[in-house]
Order: sequence, then C-alpha cells, then structure tokens
Amino acid sequence: MSKIKYFSENLEVQSKTIILRLDLNVPLNEKKIQDKSRILTSLPFLKDLIKKKAKIVIISHLGRPKGVKNNELSLAPIYKFLKEQLETNVYFFMGDINEETKSKFAYLKEGEIILLENIRFFEGENKNDDDFAKKLASLGDIYINDAFSCSHREQASIHKITKYIKDCYAGPLLKKEVSAIDTIIQNKKKPVTCIIGGSKISTKINVITNLIKNVDNIIIVGAMANNFLTFKGFKVGKSLIEKDSKKIIDNIYAEAKKYNCNIIIPEDCNVSTNFEGSGKTKKQDSIDENEIVLDIGPKTIKNIESIIDQSNTVLWNGPAGYFENKNFLTGTLAIAKKISQNTTKKSLVSILGGGDTISAINKSNDKFSFTHLSTAGGAFLEFLEGKDLPGLSVLK
Ligand code: 3PG
Repeated sequence: MSKIKYFSENLEVQSKTIILRLDLNVPLNEKKIQDKSRILTSLPFLKDLIKKKAKIVIISHLGRPKGVKNNELSLAPIYKFLKEQLETNVYFFMGDINEETKSKFAYLKEGEIILLENIRFFEGENKNDDDFAKKLASLGDIYINDAFSCSHREQASIHKITKYIKDCYAGPLLKKEVSAIDTIIQNKKKPVTCIIGGSKISTKINVITNLIKNVDNIIIVGAMANNFLTFKGFKVGKSLIEKDSKKIIDNIYAEAKKYNCNIIIPEDCNVSTNFEGSGKTKKQDSIDENEIVLDIGPKTIKNIESIIDQSNTVLWNGPAGYFENKNFLTGTLAIAKKISQNTTKKSLVSILGGGDTISAINKSNDKFSFTHLSTAGGAFLEFLEGKDLPGLSVLK
C-alpha cells in the first residue's frame, strides 16, 4: 500500500487540468437517484480541487452499457445533482472523445468542472484500448484515480490511461479505503466470517475460492445462494442463477474441506412469484417452479446471527435479498443490526462493502456502526483476496 503514489496536498494544481476518475455509479430508478452515498463521499475532494483553482474533468461509468449508448444509463441525473451541490460552473459533455475534444474544453476556467457522459458508452473503455486511453489522457495534465471501487477493472479510464499521462495519483478517498481495509486485514482476529450476497454473481463467485484460505466461515446469501442451492439439488424456481457454476462450486467445497472453512447456505427463504410481491417463507426443499427466491428466511437469519456472535471479524459484501422491495429487506437489515450491535458492544471488527449493501442499509431508519464502510463491492472482495488490483498497480 505504501508504494501507491498518492495525491499530495502540496501538489500545485492551479489552472492545471485534472482528469478525475470517480465512481458515480449510483442506483437509479426512472432517472431518479436512489442512493447518493457514492456522490456525497466524492464531494469533499472535488470541493478541495475547486478551492485550489484546478480545472476538473470528471470521468465515471454508470451500469454496464458495454460500449453502446443507452439513455437509461446516462449520467445526466448525476450531473444535475452535482450542479446543485457545487458552487461553480459544472458542464456536461456528451460528445465524442477524440483528438479535437481537448480544444472543445477551452472554455473551462479555473475551479470549473466538466463531467463526461458515461465512459462505458465507449467501446474503447471496456476494451482498455490504447488509442482510446491516449485520447482520454490528452484531456488533462494530471490524472487522479479516486475510485477504489473500480480499481479491479482493467479499463481505459482506470488502467491504460496511466500509460499516456506522466502525473498519475490515487485520490484521498482511495487512500482512505486502502489503508482502512489493509489495517483491518493485517490485524484481523479469528474467527473470521465473510458474508457474500448480492446479484453480481460472476464478479464474486471466483473470489470465494480464494477467500477460503483466510476465513473460518463463508456465509452465502442473496442471488449468489441460488447457485449453491441448485448445486445441492434443491429447486429454485424462476430465481436468478449463473450458468456453468457447478464446477466452481464443486471446487469451493473441495477447498473449504481442505482449509477447514465452513460454507453456510440458506436453509429457508422468502419467496414470491414476482419482484413486487409480498413474500412468504419456504424451506429450501419446497420452492415452487413459478417462485423466485428474494430473501433469506427466519431460520437462516437466526443461524447467521449466532455465527456473527461467535466471530471476532466480519467482512460483508452484498445484500441478502432483493432490497429494492422493502418486503425483502428483512434479512439484510437483520444482519446489519447484529454486526452493528456487536461492533459497538463486543469490539467485533467489521467491514462492509458494496454500493448495493450501502443502499440497502440506508433504507433503514436505524443508525448502524461498523469499523469501516467501503463504497467498493467487487474491488473490495478482490482486495481482500490479496490480489494486486490493476488500477492500483499502475499507480505504484
Ligand atoms: C461497483 O458498483 O462495484 C463499481 O461501480 C464497479 O462496477 P462494475 O462491477 O460494473 O465494474
């Protein structure tokens, strides 16, 4: 961690153009921001750069448009929110990124901001394309990555861009995340429990195999658990599952046996025939063909609470259910409550990660306490695995 080149307070930035990679990937519903946490945590550094009279070009992605323009995934709502929050001129650039783009930014004055439209609308971003990265780099004098949550992606605005710009740094938010998670991992007290949920299955399923060596319990919840239930021969109706996960899960159980790690999967679930439903509790062996698993059930919650009680370190990524519908938020909030209580009363060391996990617990009126709350999901898990994240290694 000490090898990462961090942005320094003393760096002269006045009138320099800073390319700032942020993670403004927030949940939207009909173009309304559902949870502003990621944007709000990015604001202090932005305000600092404005005060220092830098010219700022912000890059972010939203969702996974895979190189195709998609109005639903426009950063326009985020642009509007930034305009409200910042006392400076904020512009939105929806044009192409090419050799002429920089000259189009000539109007940008000191302390002003241009937000580029969703960078994943460009194929070159997803392909980590050299030519595209070069064009991006040409937009500024200094590059700062303050998006720890995207640093596991080998994409142009995170990775290759650093090849074409001399002055590259990690921002303060990234620094805070890396040092907090690093400190906790170095000092973690056993037993260690890792709770993994959410719906981004493909990002996380491989991670589990590598975590097994370092933790005592792995609790699988959310859509991720459907694969494990299927593997065990249970029917999960119309639930979301990942194709071809059998081999990976087979290996997970083999590794778990080797390293003496317990894998815990739900014994009961809350199901419905549609995402808007109210839900009913079913045992894992009685899910009907037309039902979707949308949350963990009461027995599973009790079991997870008891495992948390026996743990000294808990790492959690991904909600336990379809939290967008409050009827399926119960499991997630029960886990949050238990971790929070034990963090306060029993000195449990806890780290929570992921945009969805944060959005889910923000739906509660209760105030929770954790040792560290990370905005990162996939990046947080890969960092826990001990991987050298591509976006960080290029800043060393
Ligand atoms: C996240 O939500 O974890 C980050 O924004 C990264 O998103 P991605 O998994 O689509 O790369």
